[in-house]
Amino acid sequence: MQNSNFWTTLSKPIFILAPMYDVTDTVFRQIISGIGKPDVFFTEFVNVEGMCSIGRSNVIYRLQFTEIERPIVAQVWGINPKNFYKIAREIAGMGFDGIDLNFGCPEKSVMTHGACAALIENQELAKEIILATQEGAQKMPVSIKTRIGIKKIVTEDWITFLLQFNLATLTIHGRTAQELSDVPAHWEEIGKAVYVRNKLNQKTLIIGNGDVEDLADASEKVKQYGVDGVMIGRGIFHNPWLFNLQVTNKSTSPDEKLNLLLKHAQLFEKTWGNRKNFAILKKFFKIYCSGFSGASELRAKLMETNTVDQVDQALKEYRSG
Ligand SMILES: Cc1cc2nc3c(=O)[nH]c(=O)nc-3n(C[C@H](O)[C@H](O)[C@H](O)COP(=O)(O)O)c2cc1C
Repeated sequence: MQNSNFWTTLSKPIFILAPMYDVTDTVFRQIISGIGKPDVFFTEFVNVEGMCSIGRSNVIYRLQFTEIERPIVAQVWGINPKNFYKIAREIAGMGFDGIDLNFGCPEKSVMTHGACAALIENQELAKEIILATQEGAQKMPVSIKTRIGIKKIVTEDWITFLLQFNLATLTIHGRTAQELSDVPAHWEEIGKAVYVRNKLNQKTLIIGNGDVEDLADASEKVKQYGVDGVMIGRGIFHNPWLFNLQVTNKSTSPDEKLNLLLKHAQLFEKTWGNRKNFAILKKFFKIYCSGFSGASELRAKLMETNTVDQVDQALKEYRSG
């Protein structure tokens, strides 16, 4: 399956776990693979300039993956088309199933450099980046994740522009950059993108993204807006079993949740050692440690831990008490 267009082999609707920086690393993806796997995983976004610099070792570990996470798409961002070409070649060589361009991150620190969502108003550079990536990617499918505008909604113009590049997939987060995640996603704009795609008779798959909580909600969006699939991000914080149709949050016991927490902590330590700060792991505690009696007290104790052994100890004390 490597480096051919895996997107066309998936049955629709396609359900995807959204890329989330400092969340969806190889450790979290392996944990999610074991309990309810989405149809596709994305890496966190990785800066192509960083990959081409002497600071490369501070970036490249975000591209670590294991076979169980396939199909896996590497997401990249940056501004220099030459670097996109180089890194697309490298990513294809690493055996990724696809490469995705982040044209949607609204953070000031990236937008002031003209990257990510800033490209929505710089079609010339966007075009150079897409073509350079496609050339570097060779047979590996290229996709884009974007928003519907910077300040103003420009769905029709922007999506029409992007559709000329024969992209494998276009994921549309239904908000402008300025809206961050502060307003409800404009799903009717995502529906408009599907309409534009159909009118142009293009094959590019359209994936909708924004505020979807679970698979029932995702299926509803597929029906209502005609998207080929749905990408879910923050919904996984409320239920890590989200992509498993057989399991709902209600039927997972505190024990199952805490076993998963420990497994995650152990895999985090084994995978990252000192590479990642323990504080990053703490962000996950709320995902597993909520929705049962004593959860908030246990969580407070877990927040005081600094090693996996201490996590293990806190869980043992909770279970024996
Ligand atoms: C903590 C966090 C990190 C994120 N990092 C990325 C990223 O690296 N690349 C990206 O394209 N989007 C990133 N996003 C945006 C999500 O992929 C997604 O588009 C957004 O959360 C909306 O979907 P949701 O409502 O299902 O969460 C991030 C979002 C969150 C909450």
